[in-house]
Amino acid sequence: MSLSPTVATRSACESLLAELERRRLAGECDLKPLGDTLAAVPPTAADDPGNPPPRRRGRPAKGSTPAEPPPLSPGLASLPVYLGEFWTARQRQVHSIHEVSYRACFKPQLPAFFLDHASAPGEPVYDPFMGRGTTLVEAALRGRLPAGNDANPLSVQLVQPRLQPPPLTAIQQRLTEVKLPLRPPADDAERELLVFFHPDTLAELLGWRDYFAARRAAATFDAVDGWIEMVACNRLTGHSRGFFSVYTLPPNQATSVKAQRRINERRDQQPDYRDTRQLIGRKTLKLFRDPLPAGYGRDAPLLLSRSADHTPELDDSSIALVVTSPPFLNVVQYDKDNWMRSWFAGRDIGEVPFWQSSSLPLWVDRMRAAFTELHRVVQPGGVIAFEVGEVGRGKIELEHQVLQAAVAAGLVPLAIMINQQNFTKTANCWGVANNQRGTNSNRIVVLERKG
Ligand SMILES: C[S@@+](CC[C@H](N)C(=O)[O-])C[C@H]1O[C@@H](n2cnc3c(N)ncnc32)[C@H](O)[C@@H]1O
Repeated sequence: MSLSPTVATRSACESLLAELERRRLAGECDLKPLGDTLAAVPPTAADDPGNPPPRRRGRPAKGSTPAEPPPLSPGLASLPVYLGEFWTARQRQVHSIHEVSYRACFKPQLPAFFLDHASAPGEPVYDPFMGRGTTLVEAALRGRLPAGNDANPLSVQLVQPRLQPPPLTAIQQRLTEVKLPLRPPADDAERELLVFFHPDTLAELLGWRDYFAARRAAATFDAVDGWIEMVACNRLTGHSRGFFSVYTLPPNQATSVKAQRRINERRDQQPDYRDTRQLIGRKTLKLFRDPLPAGYGRDAPLLLSRSADHTPELDDSSIALVVTSPPFLNVVQYDKDNWMRSWFAGRDIGEVPFWQSSSLPLWVDRMRAAFTELHRVVQPGGVIAFEVGEVGRGKIELEHQVLQAAVAAGLVPLAIMINQQNFTKTANCWGVANNQRGTNSNRIVVLERKG
């Protein structure tokens, strides 16, 4: 499939920089040259010893030593860095169709900002590391043409059904009428899953799996099946009675059979029965809670399962805007976290070339390869918003490495945005006590593909 480029009247870069300047003049953000920012960035929650951070940001990358950022070339030292709260994190502003969990996903407000200020309706928007598809879903909600890629083949299964959802009534009817081939575990690998699931729940899960496999084999697997499989993937494991499993890690992070045995012993718990049809139906209603805009899902999205540096299905100069967030060194183990979901969806991710290494030079090399591919597919004047995390408790600021890689690939840096949200924690998560103050920050390198 090819995406037809649209020629913008005002350049996306001009619009975005004008918006940042408008906010600066209104006192909504600060501006500093990049050379001055290292000392100027206030500590984040990750830097506060009394306030341990979420694992995604705070855990030092194994084997990586916090490195001095590379020396800035004279041109880059004057690159504008905008610091401020560019969007709020309020959950209620987020469309319900986003609400599936995935490791290290960003909030929909992040792509929404760039969609609003650096793209126009009808334009193709791409994410080469799409994960659960936050950029694509937000792009579709705002009338853009979504395209995405992720090395994780599960990603397409999570994204496609939410970009082109079947009618709610068809899902409900299928959930009521489908005859699942219920069966007990057939081998040791399936039997081990009883550490997570009650025998009757596991019989249903095996039934769903066999049902989907048979539908695929008969080429009758349809959009309703795809929806049910996506929701079931998201209900497999979690903390509450809304999931199929006994109490375990959060749903985006399946633990091993061995570790679950220990959790069960420590908590003195055994899996109780969960009705999979009922839980899939309930989560479906939640995802459909907010109405979808007219025309949503009309155009088939271009979705790929490739390494981000090799996406031949995308035409040269076909993309108006990229909003993305790559893997941050080895902070997240995408293969381990996704083993249960990929088992359920019948995907072997053992051979997937995930980029999850602790080596900073290797990471920079891979980012350069991804940028070279983006340089090919983005249209002249198009914008790339590249979000990176802080690794090693903020000691490795990956935006400097990203700049190095992007410039080597021929892209032109426009600005760095550091979005900071002050918050008061209301929940005790990751061992953080209630009502402590902290800061969430997103660090975004904004680049242009010149003509
Ligand atoms: C930080 S996550 C992106 C999350 C996404 N922004 C979202 O909101 O869901 C990084 C993604 O990069 C993917 N990934 C890892 N190695 C990759 C590669 N070589 N090519 C493409 N994607 C890769 C991972 O599977 C993961 O989904």
